[in-house]
Formats: sequence, structure tokens, C-alpha cells
Amino acid sequence: MLNEFSYDLGQWDISRFRERPPQDTFTAFDLEWHLLPDVWPGNAVATKLFTSWLPYSEVDSFLEVGCGAGVTAVIAAMRGCSRVCALDINPAAAETAQLNATRHGVGDKVTTLTSDLFSALDEGTTFDLIYWNSPFVEAPVEHEYRSQIDYAAFDADYKMHEAFFAALERHMSETTRVFLGFSETLGNPQRLHELAARSGFTASVYRRDTFDLPADYAGPRSGDGEGDGLTSLVYVLYEFRRTAPAA
Ligand SMILES: C[S@@+](CC[C@H](N)C(=O)[O-])C[C@H]1O[C@@H](n2cnc3c(N)ncnc32)[C@H](O)[C@@H]1O
Repeated sequence: MLNEFSYDLGQWDISRFRERPPQDTFTAFDLEWHLLPDVWPGNAVATKLFTSWLPYSEVDSFLEVGCGAGVTAVIAAMRGCSRVCALDINPAAAETAQLNATRHGVGDKVTTLTSDLFSALDEGTTFDLIYWNSPFVEAPVEHEYRSQIDYAAFDADYKMHEAFFAALERHMSETTRVFLGFSETLGNPQRLHELAARSGFTASVYRRDTFDLPADYAGPRSGDGEGDGLTSLVYVLYEFRRTAPAA
């Protein structure tokens, strides 16, 4: 069932982004990063957690779906992945990621492409690791994407999550590892697991952490707009394994 509260919170977050767009640079992992307009800044809590948890040293080729400003892809290259591909449906995000790869000296290892999920990849191109910090807020099927930044937060009817699992196989080898950064508070984990299972994937929790909302948090805290229910957010990095043939 759609989590109305999470949808409200997502809309609050995106409207705040529109009213006060971030500056053209931001800091993350003690580095300064470029940020073009309408791109999700890579200094969000979720980005920091997932980027610090991924097992870069165990893989050589790394695919980031939905790279945003490219922080994770660039860190992957800086931590030794020799072939990094960063995709985003938002052309400004792909451009920002390329600027950041060059800025941090890994432009020769990182390729960025504007791509709806895997659409810009050649059929049969595989990676050791595939990762997406997904737009985990489930939106109603009639949700209208007002601008590119909406794609950073919302997935109408979880259609993109469904398509992600359905298409994964084409870019996996026998040993590819698949990770998805998600919020169990703001996303719909039950629906996510059902959609994954339809394509034969099962999740395990690779890392999970709880983030306490800051004292100045001014967004919605409960479904009915009253009370002070929400005090923290749970973020999780799932690892998905193929456990069955696609249904
Ligand atoms: C939560 S943001 C994460 C951005 C960045 N990876 C980070 O961690 O800061 C989700 C990203 O997925 C991208 N995205 C959403 N739908 C997509 C799709 N169908 N194909 C490719 N990218 C998509 C959004 O544009 C956005 O940049």
C-alpha cells in the first residue's frame, strides 16, 4: 500500500529544493564537488552512508545507475575500480558526474551516460558490481514529474524499480553483485521485495543504519500532519542475489 506520509515528505523535500536550490558546489568526503542546476546533491545522508559501505576493493568494474552528481562513481574509481560507468536519466546529472570525475582526476576511468536505467548500455555489457541509490519514495501512478529533480525522489507505482530488476540480468555475469540503497522508513520495502522476486532476486541486508532527524527538521512527522511521530530514518543497503528464474 502506498505510504502517503512518505509521499508527502518527499514532496516537502523536493519543494524545499525548488524554493532554495543548492549552491553550484557542495562538500562530501572532504572534497569539493560541482553541482549543475536540477541535480540531486551528493551530500545527502543516504549518499554518504551507501558510498562508505560499498565493497569497492572486491570488484574491478562498477556500474552506478542514477549517479546524480557522481559522488559514488568517483569514489569507486578513486578506491581502485578501473572501469566505472555512471548513468542517469537526468542529462544534467550525467554532465555533473563527468565534471566531478575530471575534477578528482579519474576522468579516464569514469564514463557517464544519459540513460533510462540501462538503455544507453550496449547489450551484453556486464559489470562486477551494479548499484543504485534509488528514488525509493513510491508515488501514485498518476504522479506528474514536474522537472528532472523529481526523478531523484519519486518512482510512480514503482515502475522503475520493477524495470530495474527485470533488466538486470542483461548486464550481469555469473559473479556480478547487485546493491540497492534504500530507506525502510520512506520506501516500500515489501513492494520492493515482491518486485525483485518476480525477476528471481532475493535481498539480504548488507548494512543498515538509523539516522536521527536534526533538531531543526521542519518537515512532516506523521501521516495526519499531527503529533511528532517521526524522529529517525532507517537507511539500508540491500544486496540482491538471483535465487530463482524470473516468473
Ligand atoms: C536518490 S538519487 C541518488 C543520486 C546519487 N546516486 C546519490 O547517491 O547522491 C536517485 C537518482 O536516480 C536517478 N534516476 C531516477 N530514475 C532513473 C532511471 N529510470 N534511470 C536512470 N536514473 C534514474 C535520478 O535522476 C537521481 O539522480
